[in-house]
Amino acid sequence: MTPEAPGPAPVALDPSIPLPPYTLRMGGQHFKKDEDFVAAGVRDARVLRRRAGLGPRKRVLDWGCGAGRLAIGIKHLMGHVADYHGVDIQPELLNWAKDNLTDEHTRFTLVDAHNARYNPDGEQSFHIPADDESVDVLYAYSVFSHMLTEDLAGYGATIARILAPGGRAWVTAFVEEDVPDCVENPTDYLKLEWKGALHCVRFSRPFFERTLHDAGLAVDEFVHGRETDGQSMYVLRRLSS
Ligand SMILES: C[S@@+](CC[C@H](N)C(=O)[O-])C[C@H]1O[C@@H](n2cnc3c(N)ncnc32)[C@H](O)[C@@H]1O
Repeated sequence: MTPEAPGPAPVALDPSIPLPPYTLRMGGQHFKKDEDFVAAGVRDARVLRRRAGLGPRKRVLDWGCGAGRLAIGIKHLMGHVADYHGVDIQPELLNWAKDNLTDEHTRFTLVDAHNARYNPDGEQSFHIPADDESVDVLYAYSVFSHMLTEDLAGYGATIARILAPGGRAWVTAFVEEDVPDCVENPTDYLKLEWKGALHCVRFSRPFFERTLHDAGLAVDEFVHGRETDGQSMYVLRRLSS
């Protein structure tokens, strides 16, 4: 398969689908315009359809969903899936999504997991609220890019446990060849100034893939550097499926 074209195609906004205020849009600098925010969600839903089997009968877990960018993309692209479940640790974003996007196929859950950037007082855990083997498509856009090795290993094992047989996880991360295993806020990386806890966590590709392998996940696809701010994308499956 070829990588997706850079920059999402424009979409027609459906005024019946609410959009979060600009201040609640993660990656806000990319999403000042409503059209860009929606187009990015639709683009990711299309990518999931093409690479991870997304379809109307699938159960989707949007881990680190923010204010529901993917949920909005799915609503614009295909109406709904069998079950969309957005999970996040930031109450303001998650509660906006819950109050505005919930319907019979779309739900949201707030968890109090620790993340030094987004929820420093949360509990140390690798919890994702989903039953074993219950998720057909797991989406984690720019989530591992804000986590260190322990979380990569711990949440990797959780993802391996909750993926259904034949399920796929589509995740993004900062991954490069020939760099140290894991660096927080690397200097002179991608021409951006990284500052504050976990702004950018960069892994070496062999280390990232080995850690996920040890957690029970195999790499189906890898495309380097085409996602937001130069992140790479992975399609993952359970080692056993
Ligand atoms: C850069 S934002 C990306 C948001 C969304 N995926 C998107 O692409 O629009 C990273 C998100 O991951 C969430 N997050 C970080 N650690 C998490 C955890 N342990 N469990 C659930 N969400 C988490 C953050 O609260 C934040 O909303």
